[in-house]
Amino acid sequence: MLGVEHLTVENREAGCVTDEHHPRISFAVTSDLAETSLQEARVRIADWETTTTNQVALAYAGAGLQAFTQYPVDVEIRDNYGRTASTHTTFETGRLDTPWQAQWISDGSYRFTEKKVSPRPMVFYRVVRPTAGKTIARARLYATAMGLYDFTINGERVSEYYFAPGFTSYKTNLQYQTYDVTDYLRQSNEARLEATVTGGWAVGSFVFTRKNRVSAQRQALLAELRIDYSDGSTDIIGTDSSWQVTIDSPVRSADLYDGEVYDARVQLDAASWRAASIEKLRIHPQIRADYSARVCEHEVFEPQFVKRSDNGELIYDFGQNFAGIVRFSVRDAREGQVITVKHAEILNPDGSLNTTFLRTAKAQIVYTCAAGEQSYAPCFTYMGFRYISVSGIDVDAFDVQGIALYSEMEEIGSFACSNNALNQLHSNIMWGSKSNLVDIPTDCPQRDERMGWTGDIAVFAPTACFNFDMSRFLDKWLRDVKAEQTRGGGIPNTVPVQGYGFPATMPQMAIDWWGDACVLVPWVLYQSRGDKEILRSMYVTMKKYVKACLFWASLWGRGDKRYIWNTPSVLHFGDWVAPDVPQMSQWQARSPWTATASLNNTARTLARVAEVLGNDEDAAQYHALANRVAQAYINVFTDGQGKLINEFQTAYVLPLYLGMFPENQRLAAVSNFARLVESNDYKIGTGFPGTPYILFALADNGRPDVAYSMLLNDACPSWLYEVKQGATTIWERWDGLDENGECPIGDDGTDIMISYNHYASGAVGAFLYSRVAGLEATSAAYKTFRVQPIVGGGLTWVKASTRTPYGVVSSSWTLDSNGTFVLTVDVPVSTRAEVVLPDGSVHEVSNGTHTFTSTFTANSNMEVRA
Ligand code: BGC
Repeated sequence: MLGVEHLTVENREAGCVTDEHHPRISFAVTSDLAETSLQEARVRIADWETTTTNQVALAYAGAGLQAFTQYPVDVEIRDNYGRTASTHTTFETGRLDTPWQAQWISDGSYRFTEKKVSPRPMVFYRVVRPTAGKTIARARLYATAMGLYDFTINGERVSEYYFAPGFTSYKTNLQYQTYDVTDYLRQSNEARLEATVTGGWAVGSFVFTRKNRVSAQRQALLAELRIDYSDGSTDIIGTDSSWQVTIDSPVRSADLYDGEVYDARVQLDAASWRAASIEKLRIHPQIRADYSARVCEHEVFEPQFVKRSDNGELIYDFGQNFAGIVRFSVRDAREGQVITVKHAEILNPDGSLNTTFLRTAKAQIVYTCAAGEQSYAPCFTYMGFRYISVSGIDVDAFDVQGIALYSEMEEIGSFACSNNALNQLHSNIMWGSKSNLVDIPTDCPQRDERMGWTGDIAVFAPTACFNFDMSRFLDKWLRDVKAEQTRGGGIPNTVPVQGYGFPATMPQMAIDWWGDACVLVPWVLYQSRGDKEILRSMYVTMKKYVKACLFWASLWGRGDKRYIWNTPSVLHFGDWVAPDVPQMSQWQARSPWTATASLNNTARTLARVAEVLGNDEDAAQYHALANRVAQAYINVFTDGQGKLINEFQTAYVLPLYLGMFPENQRLAAVSNFARLVESNDYKIGTGFPGTPYILFALADNGRPDVAYSMLLNDACPSWLYEVKQGATTIWERWDGLDENGECPIGDDGTDIMISYNHYASGAVGAFLYSRVAGLEATSAAYKTFRVQPIVGGGLTWVKASTRTPYGVVSSSWTLDSNGTFVLTVDVPVSTRAEVVLPDGSVHEVSNGTHTFTSTFTANSNMEVRA
């Protein structure tokens, strides 16, 4: 049968509300017949119809879309066998460019002046009565805030999402959300619209310096309810001074780092309400319909054990480190009874909660009970934790669950193999991702950071894109990257900036690998999802950035040295968290190597982007720049015969992975590198810039044996050491816990920067998919791809898949004791795969499931990749 599935509008299968004038449509084709090809697809949206064979990011090109309108999308396809299939979805336009009739409101009498804390939560309400005698056709609530808001109608939450309006670079970009509230309004002739607004990122304390009031003096709310009646009339009720406000909320305080203080005795009816005041904002962002992958609830964890620690607190273990909240219920509470829940990633040796590494983040819930039975879950905060301590209640009267909160991205990848430690590593990578893809790509979910560190996602994006459909998530974040670029071309270290973002001393500075996110992330997203628009929209940003990098590099030298990026290393992160040197200053001191390689990489990547966009002149120019930088690296840092003058792992990894060695030095370089790795007993010695690529640098240059020895090593530092120590996520520091389960890291200049949930070194996930399983896109969106597993490490079977825009691609192989290798691959319609077997044979296949048999010998994998 022929099928058409996974029809999306702006990368959402259902429920898309958009302010895009040219929304993008994608769909996949399925077939049970070999050699199926799509002859034509008719795509219809209202009066617009087009005939195409493009299945990915097809932009609507019809007449101007109307605001507040539901549009049907129909797709009919025909294949080369004459078969047909069709599917349908809808999307809705948001406000498009309709001006708001609502006004920003706040509590003008609330003077919030304290430093380093979050403001008192505000509650706003108004009672709305739909026009009597009319039939409601539909009703929508459009809302946004300075701060985080949560709306209820007659006491019921209007959505299951968290942290609206989302974290963006507020001075430029602000999202509003659209809620279908038709049923609420039909159900009663009186609706109480109520919103709690807390400080969140815009007003609350954020970043490790705990800055507050970065975007606004105090919280503010903007909301508009539009009730459409079946007679064609519309009521519009916007926020204005007819709304009431109080700061006497049961949510006594809410802070992203510190948690929530909630008093269930507080009755809003008895609060002191006053008329809301019209608020003048000091920023003027563009307010667009939500284009993010919104944060919502995912896995629910039951406690695996409860113990009482020596200090009398109850300690619960959820068995998994994650980002989220607890939901608890309490029986037989006394009015005024106070329950305190604290969160942490690890326990102390005596079994109590270890909160040392949270730094200033209190990460706690203080809940004052009303009498009797009740339940509670915070709405305006989240924590990174596996354990909680609970005081103020008996174990029998308390039920608790852990709820993972992260962005709504479809999980598209899977990986499993015959080695359980590697499977646990994959699970840790998944949890590292889930815990740090919380509206923006964060570094960690637990301490006083949770910021959009650019370097972390720059290296992790390829792995994230194997595991999740990152389209909406990264598209949103990249709009802020673009918005935050400085005039000089530098990209802040954290995006959105919100209190901290630049190297403190030089805001215009370009920072290698961290700033590189503006080039690397769009490129990776394009490769995995195939939407050129992301490259087009980031192109100018990328060019300005590479220009800035070249400017800073060339300030410090002439000749070859013009391309050696030698900025004072305190301004760079260098080989960040490299475990072979103990001090932060030593990681930074490696920046001439990491920065120079970064310039080669961004210039080369930009050249490829230029090729895709058809800018041949630019492409030639950036290729030439990349070549000059490579040449300089080799001339300055090596003996010209493949040996580094100053040897360390990252300094070999980068030029080997990036193809910077001349062909005649490459093998010598890899054998020097392999010697270095062997002499370090296959333990890892790389920081952020080297870790993602180290196994590729070995395996693709003829040493998969060394790559596997490193991957499977479980001595510290290594990926599997963390697994051996019982990690359920990826750690920030390779030596986060010693063999006794204690943290051995002393004063290394980082202010106890020790997180047990950082995804950066989980970037090895891309190697599991693309080399161990062998799945690699050779053109955007896997229109063409290669399946070339690297057999080794004693693995007897491997299975991996990822769902591309065209459908699922998969590789699954087995190896028996006689050396018989059997590989099965799935190839979606409209794509082609090149299958390379261990015996060197190459096979071209189109859609369907294909099985190949080959023999594997010890030398099978040793060839060098182009
Ligand atoms: C963060 C990192 C980040 C780094 C850069 C840390 O505090 O947690 O992941 O990239 O700072 O210096």
